[in-house]
Amino acid sequence: MSNQKKRSWAEPYKIKMVEPVRITTFEERKKALEEAGYNTFLLRSRDVYIDLLTDSGTSAMSDRQWAGMMMGDESYAGSTNFYHLEEAIREYYGYKYVVPTHQGRAAEHIISQLLIKKGDFIPGNMYFTTTKLHQELAGGTFVDVIIDEAHDPENEHPFKANIDLDKLESLIKEKGPDKIPYVSFATTVNMAGGQPISLENLRAVRELTQKYGIKIIHDMTRVAENAYLIQKREPGYENTPVKEIVREICSLTDGATMSAKKDALVNIGGFLAVNDEELFDRARNMVVVYEGLHTYGGMAGRDMEALAIGISESVDHDHIRARVGQVEYLGKKIIDMGIPVVKPIGSHGVFLDAKKILPHLSQELLPAQSLAAAIYLDSGVRSMERGVVSSGRNPETGDHNYPSLELVRLTIPRRVYTQAHMDVVAESVEAVYENRTEISGLKFVYEPEYLRFFQSRFAVV
Ligand code: F0G
Repeated sequence: MSNQKKRSWAEPYKIKMVEPVRITTFEERKKALEEAGYNTFLLRSRDVYIDLLTDSGTSAMSDRQWAGMMMGDESYAGSTNFYHLEEAIREYYGYKYVVPTHQGRAAEHIISQLLIKKGDFIPGNMYFTTTKLHQELAGGTFVDVIIDEAHDPENEHPFKANIDLDKLESLIKEKGPDKIPYVSFATTVNMAGGQPISLENLRAVRELTQKYGIKIIHDMTRVAENAYLIQKREPGYENTPVKEIVREICSLTDGATMSAKKDALVNIGGFLAVNDEELFDRARNMVVVYEGLHTYGGMAGRDMEALAIGISESVDHDHIRARVGQVEYLGKKIIDMGIPVVKPIGSHGVFLDAKKILPHLSQELLPAQSLAAAIYLDSGVRSMERGVVSSGRNPETGDHNYPSLELVRLTIPRRVYTQAHMDVVAESVEAVYENRTEISGLKFVYEPEYLRFFQSRFAVV
């Protein structure tokens, strides 16, 4: 074991099947980018060489998961795979009651509709796009109570997802506990750069909220990654298995929404899990309206089986060490090139600091959107904007929100790409960085009402 610790990470699997990818020419990419309105979400995947758009639903499943797919029980009601999934959630996460959904946002919709009243406030550790929108659609207002360090890309705080207890308590005192249905916190905060929350902070949040009778709902999309970073960084947890840390995190909360397309290694799936029986009954009733019967939600039996197996694989030490190790490998390479990124490197991607890389573009000129387009044009590497476009508009004033973080996310799918792919990505980022003064800004030419980053179109300014 001690020898093992000194050795560098390597993939704890070998490759059984390959999916060819296409290397395109500059002219082909230029045309594809124009047709996509400079939005990487609107590119066709056949025009992409290395796809770092998202880690969502893009994992490679194991041979065991594929074998599980063959065991799909596609009965409309009472599928065996549902009970296996429920057992896995109880064993690995400790939540009592499970409502399956087709993916994370469906669980967010249900919990928001059930718990939020018009005029409520929902504090959280930085927003996530779909989570916040569902809170707003239910009549609530999201309030960011993350520590200030999270808004500074250079700050190397080891737990940038921590909640600022003073901000949280001031909000409770100002609005009153009856206006705060729950605290909505995420393990590894996506928009902050994949940063973890510490158990020490979570325990303090639990103590504070219990004093006021306020629930905690956990966005557990990347909980195993957060647990691994706790094991690496939080004193006292060096020798605690990731599996136990995951259980401890969940035990400090009242329920969770899960996009199983990330941590849990499946291409589709999610759930809502709660400990309160009465809340469960209401959620189980609501899922039949929007998703499907309460023993499949929006999933096929085979998908539930793959998910039950994926959950157990997600907390395996060798798996999670290699997963986060690969992200850190790419991050370190880009840092060594002197290119500004969010620090410390997070668990699911490397986040380029577009404000610093393109200081000649003001935020109105959409620097992160422009940088993502430039990287695609250079090499066919697809990334995602996480800045002013993702942040949307203020529902009251209609103005753009201008987030402090204006980032391009190079998101690493799980068990999909090799170290050589990471080298090519770093080389492309370096090439774009060298010519950064030539990158022009973008402007909106089409903007949909909801979650505009997915479908907006842009033109060069
Ligand atoms: N919460 C977090 C932290 C997420 O990252 C996501 C999705 C969701 C909730 C919503 O889950 O997609 O299954 O409905 N994130 C993807 C991404 C889209 O690329 O980061 P979903």
